[in-house]
Amino acid sequence: MTEQLLIKNASQIVTPLGKTARKGAAMKDVKIYENQSILIEDGKIKAIGQDPNWEKQVPAEKQLNAQGKAVLPGFVDSHTHLVFGGYRPDEFLWRMSGMSYMEIMERGGGILNTMKATRAASEEELVDHALDHLKKMLAMGVTTVEAKSGYGQDHDTEIRQMKAVRELNKRQPIELVSTFLGAHAVPPEFAGRGDDFLEFLIHDVMPEVAQDHLAEFCDVFCEKGVFSIEQSRHLLTEARKMGFKLKIHADEIVSLGGAELAGELHATSADHLLHASDAGIKAMAENGVVSTLLPTTAFCLKEPFARTREMIDAGCAVALATDFNPGSGFTFSVPLMIGLAVIYMGMSAEEAITALTLNGAAAVDRADRIGSLEAGKQADLVILQYPSYKFLPYHTGVNIVETVVKNGKVVHQNA
Ligand code: NIG
Ligand code: FE
Repeated sequence: MTEQLLIKNASQIVTPLGKTARKGAAMKDVKIYENQSILIEDGKIKAIGQDPNWEKQVPAEKQLNAQGKAVLPGFVDSHTHLVFGGYRPDEFLWRMSGMSYMEIMERGGGILNTMKATRAASEEELVDHALDHLKKMLAMGVTTVEAKSGYGQDHDTEIRQMKAVRELNKRQPIELVSTFLGAHAVPPEFAGRGDDFLEFLIHDVMPEVAQDHLAEFCDVFCEKGVFSIEQSRHLLTEARKMGFKLKIHADEIVSLGGAELAGELHATSADHLLHASDAGIKAMAENGVVSTLLPTTAFCLKEPFARTREMIDAGCAVALATDFNPGSGFTFSVPLMIGLAVIYMGMSAEEAITALTLNGAAAVDRADRIGSLEAGKQADLVILQYPSYKFLPYHTGVNIVETVVKNGKVVHQNA
């Protein structure tokens, strides 16, 4: 039997349109329907419109009244380090008193600190830890989350992190997209031997990850003092041969050329980009690389935000994501991210919506099935407590999501 859901009389239905990322000037073009309904059948959007028959067809208990409310696509958080052990609150406060992220890392803090705690954690502990976070993300309207490994830097822990992601996909409503980020830091066992560590990943870890479909993407922390452009190119080229799609942590701390490399390799996305060069911006725009910006990380590191306007004006497809992780930004707050994007990064509310929905979906290679509200797409959506999308940046830092629908089912309601 067909399973239906009717979201009726929404004050606004707001959505970008299409099955691919929206670039440059097209990011601001969102479709706004007024006083219309959404008919959902078997997890997919059947139609958007106003048909009196729908209310007769759909059982009363399967109808949601959205009068006075705005409806948007579910949010896609396309860059997180969701699965990890332990926390680093002391480092946060050291940073606030002037120590830099890299100084902390060089002293054995940072990623290596979380690596120790993650190595010590069982799969079940990692799952439990992440479940708690996912529940809170769902309440903010997030229906798809990308999750990276990268806190193991050894075979068993990296695999365990990705198995935890697989398990999490079964245990809660958010769809998780798995990324292998073994090349996140050089572990102590390979100190001073970054090249050897990459060969270890390429030969002893990645074939198994590919074989068992434990990750869809491969990512690398391409940064001065971590992995160079040449090393990143080598790793990602080998990854592509094994069937991985590509992502890069690019130009976060210094301008190294990561955005250019993403363009050269036609990576799906380049992320961070606080110090992306003009040539890097051009390379992303010309080669269909999604430019994923992570405002809460820049905010928490007290770094200047990415050159968002320049990227959009150059024709980039910009996505917004939280980078949720225990170090550089221990937050998955969607309201804070939207506030920062609109108040400080020069994005319009419409651009921010596209960045968080369709372009986020493109950053995880799912724009053909999620990220917009259109007939045929998966019914992932949020109903806001207010009649207009403009309340998203305006009610700054406050979660105004009331109801979350995933695959045509109500999966969360805020009181
Ligand atoms: O995206 N930059 C590298 N990796 C993460 C931070 C990881 C951590 O500090 O634990 C990031 O910011
Ligand atoms: Fe990151």
